[in-house]
Amino acid sequence: MGNFKGVALQLLLVFSLFHLSFAKINWFYNYHIHIRNDLPLLNSPPDQPNLYLHCRSKNRDIGEKPMLKGQDYTWDTKINFLHTTLFFCNARWVDRKRMSFDAFTVGRDEQRCLHYHNSCMWSVREDGIYFSQNNATWEYSYRW
Ligand SMILES: *[C@@H]1O[C@H](CO)[C@@H](O)[C@H](O)[C@H]1NC(C)=O
Repeated sequence: MGNFKGVALQLLLVFSLFHLSFAKINWFYNYHIHIRNDLPLLNSPPDQPNLYLHCRSKNRDIGEKPMLKGQDYTWDTKINFLHTTLFFCNARWVDRKRMSFDAFTVGRDEQRCLHYHNSCMWSVREDGIYFSQNNATWEYSYRW
């Protein structure tokens, strides 16, 4: 019986911490990640893919996709309970370049991808990969 107050206090503490972390972490948002092929065609024919993208996390594989110019590679993700969600991608510009980049990391993207339909937008270009949080202004982020 004497223990009751202690238990009640502990429960209160646990629920407050839980509430606090819910307030801070965007567990319920569904983030949309878009990667657009904006590479120039140069010598490649327009009806052939000039870019291959393959994105995955530790436990989810979005799959390798051949990309024509202008095509969008897209998927959705929520932030996991441990707040460690990370998607990385391999990009291969056919016969020219390849690289890896992070398409979604919680620390970097949780807030900045909330400004425009919960979307992170990437554009693959001749000099590298650009990021936009509003689909209007683009920030140079990764070099080939
Ligand atoms: C971004 O803008 C382009 C046109 O400028 C449009 O085609 C595309 O659908 C937009 N992307 C998103 C995710 O809204």
